[in-house]
Amino acid sequence: MQKTIVNSWNEWDPLKHVIVGRADDCHIPPEEPALDAKVPEDSDMRGQWGRRPQETIDRANELLDNFASLLEKRGIRVDRPTPIDHSKPVTTPDFHTDSQFGCMPPRDVLLTVGSEILEATMSYRCRWFEYLNYRPLMQRYWEEDPNFRHESAPKPRLTDADYHPDYLSEKIGVEKRLKWTAEKFFVTTEEEPLFDAADVLRFGRDLVVQHGFTTNLKGIEWIRRHFPDHRVHAVNFPGDPYPIHIDATFTPLRPGLILNNPQRRLPDEQRKMFNDNDWEIVDAAQPAHNTPPPLCYSSTWLSMNVLVLDPKTVCVEASEVYQMEQMDKLGMEVVPVELRDAYAFGGGLHCCTADVYREGGCEDYFP
Ligand code: ARG
Repeated sequence: MQKTIVNSWNEWDPLKHVIVGRADDCHIPPEEPALDAKVPEDSDMRGQWGRRPQETIDRANELLDNFASLLEKRGIRVDRPTPIDHSKPVTTPDFHTDSQFGCMPPRDVLLTVGSEILEATMSYRCRWFEYLNYRPLMQRYWEEDPNFRHESAPKPRLTDADYHPDYLSEKIGVEKRLKWTAEKFFVTTEEEPLFDAADVLRFGRDLVVQHGFTTNLKGIEWIRRHFPDHRVHAVNFPGDPYPIHIDATFTPLRPGLILNNPQRRLPDEQRKMFNDNDWEIVDAAQPAHNTPPPLCYSSTWLSMNVLVLDPKTVCVEASEVYQMEQMDKLGMEVVPVELRDAYAFGGGLHCCTADVYREGGCEDYFP
């Protein structure tokens, strides 16, 4: 019998089918312009590259496998990517880099909108071929679901013209970074459309897209033309010195309620659509940790990188006590999930997943 496999219009409707990433063969890629701009200046990762230590890969896989079986026990179908050889270099007519990244986190690459899964352009050279990890799944969905639309955004050239050279000096300093991001001067230029899927949040008819290091204005315009039935809103968060991927900054929990990172507040002039429709934007609780784990790209704000299972139930990282407490106060049932030792592989509970099926259709929450 033919059936619908792919359907997901927002971040909160009841989750029935999801992809969970794998840590296999993940690499810290060599230096390249957009990635260097993102690695925090005081990070233990500066100047290092190569395959991640096996024991960290094994530990991350253990946690990801546990997360997958927890979801399965709740009746959610879970699929996993098929890792390609990430030690292989990437060479195109325009650039060369000596290794790839991994098949974590799927949220960065795959954007599900209704019956479509769109492979993002990506903006790091080391992630140019990352979609290949998910192709076996995409092929399967395509064969099983006659309405599934498998789409791929135009592959970017990623020449040096895509990156502002000002961002490439060794020490920029956080103060200057904050000034630049407030001015919307990011490492990526407007040479060609660029976006990562994790800069997009889905609110039914509306898509909210972060303009930052990994997504430029042309990328947002590309998304707008690609989804003509949607309204596409560009947002930015001036308090973030390393603005990539919206999901540790702005986290919708259910219709009418969003958590916002208190250090990266949505500017007043960008709040109109939410205010006009009585959506509440509340400050997220503080992270439980003062520093990210070793060899990690992300900040401690992965505390708010949660996976909503339905409008009343949310998975929160098990050590994030303040975030769990806040969810409880907001009337959510909390499912604690241990994941911190996998953060280094690219993110938290929202990042390490990608939606395939959530119940429900395309609603207009901002009429
Ligand atoms: N930029 C975020 C932070 O460090 C991390 C976002 C990770 N998200 C993702 N989808 N990989 O606070």
